Amino acid sequence: MKQNIYDDEKFFNQYEELRNEQKDKNANDLIEIPNFRKLMPDVTNKSILDLGCGYGENDKFYIEQGAKYVLGTDISKKMIEKANEINKIDGIEYKVIAMEDISSIDKKFDVIISSLAFHYIKDFDKLINDCYKLLNNDGYLVFSQEHPFTTCIKYTENVKKGHTVIDNKYFGLFSDYNRPRRKN
Ligand SMILES: C[S@@+](CC[C@H](N)C(=O)[O-])C[C@H]1O[C@@H](n2cnc3c(N)ncnc32)[C@H](O)[C@@H]1O
Repeated sequence: MKQNIYDDEKFFNQYEELRNEQKDKNANDLIEIPNFRKLMPDVTNKSILDLGCGYGENDKFYIEQGAKYVLGTDISKKMIEKANEINKIDGIEYKVIAMEDISSIDKKFDVIISSLAFHYIKDFDKLINDCYKLLNNDGYLVFSQEHPFTTCIKYTENVKKGHTVIDNKYFGLFSDYNRPRRKN
C-alpha cells in the first residue's frame, strides 16, 4: 500500500506553513537545498527526472540553469497542482506518478534527482533498479532523504515549531531522538 500523506489537507497545509512561513530558516533552505545543488553535475542541455518533486521549485531552478527538459513527478495530486500553478515554465512537465510506478515512464534521462522523498519508499532496491533503467549511459542519480532526527520529536507543541530561538540563533529540538518508542 502506497502512502500519500501530502494529499491530506491538514498535512499539506502544515507543510506549506513550514516551507513558506519559515522560509530561509527551515532545514530545506538552510541545509538540504544548498548541499544538494553542490552535488549536481552540469545540467546544460540535460534531461532530468525529479522523483517526489513537490512544488517543483528544483525543477524550475534546473531549467533556469540550462536543462533542456525536466519531468517532475509526485504521488500527490495536490503537490502537482501546486507545481503547475507556481513553478511551471517551458521545458517542464509535471505528472502524478508514484515512485513505485516509475517503470511505466517511457523516456530516459541524463539525471534523476530526488529531494527528501526516498524515505517514503519501502522497496529501496526496486527503486534504485528502476532508476538505473531510466538513466542514459553515464547518467547521474542524485538524492537526499530525511534523517530520523526530523521526525523524532514526540510532543506536538514542539512538532509545530521544530526549533527554538536563543539570542537570534536557531536550535533544532532533538531531545526525543534517543527515546525508544513504537511508531503510533
Ligand atoms: C518533503 S517533500 C519534498 C518535495 C520536493 N522534492 C522538495 O524538495 O521541495 C516529499 C515529497 O515526496 C512525495 N512523495 C512521498 N511519497 C511518494 C511516492 N511514493 N511517490 C512519489 N512521490 C512521493 C510527497 O508527495 C512530497 O511531495
